[in-house]
Amino acid sequence: MNNKHIQEGLVKIIVPEFDKVSAKAPVFYNPAMELNRDLSILALQKFQMDLGEDINVCDAFGGSGIRGIRYSKEISGVSKVVVNDISPLAVKFTKENANLNEVENLEISQTDANMALRERRGEFDVVDIDPFGTPSYFIDSVANSLKSDSLLCITATDTSALCGTYKEPCIRKYNAVPLKTEYCHENGIRILAGFVAMTFAKYKKSVLIKFSHSSEHYMRIYFQIQKGAKEADESLKNMGFIIHCRKCLFRQTINGLAPHIPDKCPECGEKTRVGGPLWLGHIQDSDFLEGMIGLSEEKELNKEKQLLKLLNRCLEESKMPATYYDLHVVCKKLKISSPSILDVMEMLENEGFLVSRTHYRPTGIKTDASLTKIEEIIENLNPD
Ligand SMILES: C[S@@+](CC[C@H](N)C(=O)[O-])C[C@H]1O[C@@H](n2cnc3c(N)ncnc32)[C@H](O)[C@@H]1O
Repeated sequence: MNNKHIQEGLVKIIVPEFDKVSAKAPVFYNPAMELNRDLSILALQKFQMDLGEDINVCDAFGGSGIRGIRYSKEISGVSKVVVNDISPLAVKFTKENANLNEVENLEISQTDANMALRERRGEFDVVDIDPFGTPSYFIDSVANSLKSDSLLCITATDTSALCGTYKEPCIRKYNAVPLKTEYCHENGIRILAGFVAMTFAKYKKSVLIKFSHSSEHYMRIYFQIQKGAKEADESLKNMGFIIHCRKCLFRQTINGLAPHIPDKCPECGEKTRVGGPLWLGHIQDSDFLEGMIGLSEEKELNKEKQLLKLLNRCLEESKMPATYYDLHVVCKKLKISSPSILDVMEMLENEGFLVSRTHYRPTGIKTDASLTKIEEIIENLNPD
């Protein structure tokens, strides 16, 4: 077996040669996830600094070991990193890679992630869940395992389910109905977050979202965990539904797990579609994001430019309401050509509305203005 040498951050690793990135590779390594790992370095460092103590980290799906080894080498205040993987070959390469990088505080484990998390309940300040496809099979174990003031990082790559390309898998895996709309990636994040919040509530634990993003083929959420039945009940108040009208693009959030949901669009009378239950609370935390942005200067990250663009967009979005409008979709409905997004945003701002762009789509606008107001502004800007 020939090996491939890889350099990422402050770390060098070897993995068996592979033709294309896939779950079938002998040991999994995806160069497209470097941005994800770079962002994780900043998020874990920010979390460690806020906690003010050294942290124990569990990389429950280690693969080549790249993530855990980077956490060990590039984050200060880490007492131990446990890198776990079910695959004997992944564990063999993780050992070699740990030696290659001379990491001292790394423990390597080979078991099913559910077992590792349950057996080591209460041991970790940070758990990273980065499986193939859906993380849903592991959420009960991590909910059982995590203690108060801990950080949970979750990656999901089954975006077709979360975004509603395939409805049934989303219902099966996340117990929620997806909405295939122009803002489906944000909905996907909210469905995953809602599923995590509901699962943690069973264990009398609450979640708060520090940072989330949808990039390329995956979604990633960072949750802060607290213990307490009352806090869990409180956090479930963030659950609800979104109704969407395909004809006129009207959408509305409705809080609650058994709310009254109108089946007709209040604007045009068309039958509405319903998505949820999902998380309607904040999905970005501006202080946490500002902290991550500040820390980026101190770290050697190859993806710094891309990462700063993403973090700054997420920061802009952090105070905005749920969902966004796509300028091109609204213009298609109005049957007019699209004005500049910056002009539309400026007009909305001049009229006193909250407005921002969004990292989900270059043509997306987040605002508290009504759709009627947005359409009026677009029409006024139209030269035809
Ligand atoms: C997406 S890869 C992890 C990538 C790695 N975190 C990184 O950043 O490069 C998923 C890994 O999970 C492992 N795996 C699959 N099922 C598992 C399970 N039930 N418990 C633990 N590891 C598992 C696979 O062997 C694979 O190495």
